[in-house]
Amino acid sequence: MATTTATLTVTVNAAFLQEIKEVNQELFHRLSEVRQILSRPVPFTMDGVSFVAKLAELRDQLALHFALEEAYGYFDDPVFVAPQLGRVAESLRAQHRELYLEISQIVEQAERHQYRGQLPSWTVVLAGAFMRFHHRFGQHESRENELIQQAYDDDLGGSE
Ligand SMILES: [Fe+2]
Repeated sequence: MATTTATLTVTVNAAFLQEIKEVNQELFHRLSEVRQILSRPVPFTMDGVSFVAKLAELRDQLALHFALEEAYGYFDDPVFVAPQLGRVAESLRAQHRELYLEISQIVEQAERHQYRGQLPSWTVVLAGAFMRFHHRFGQHESRENELIQQAYDDDLGGSE
C-alpha cells in the first residue's frame, strides 16, 4: 500500500522528454508497421518468424524508450512542483512498467505459438491483444505530451 508521506515529487524535464519522443521515430514507425500487419484480413502472408522478430524488436525499442524517458525525462524533485503535475507524472512513469509487461507477454505468447506452428490460428487473439496494447500506449503518449505542455506552461508562470 502506498502512503502519502513521500517528500519527493515526480516531475519532468519537458525539453528532454520531448526530444526523446522526437528522436525515437523508429519506435513509432515499427509500432504502426506491426499494427498494419495485424489489421490485414490475412496477416501472415509474411513468414511467422519474421513477424515475431519484428514484434520482439518493438518490445526492445519500447524498453529503450521507457529507459531513456525515465533516465532523462522524469526526476524526483523535492520542491517547485505543482501537486497535480506531480501526481500525473508519477502515474505516467509507473505506466511504463505495465506497458512493458503487456508487450512482453504478447511477444512471449507469439513466440510460443510460432514455435508450435499455431501462429495463423491464433491471429485474432494476437491482433486483439496488440490493438488493446496499442490503444493504451497511444493514450499514455498523449497524456505524456499534455504533461510536457503543462510543464512548459508552468515554467512560463502558467500564463496564457
Ligand atoms: Fe512514457
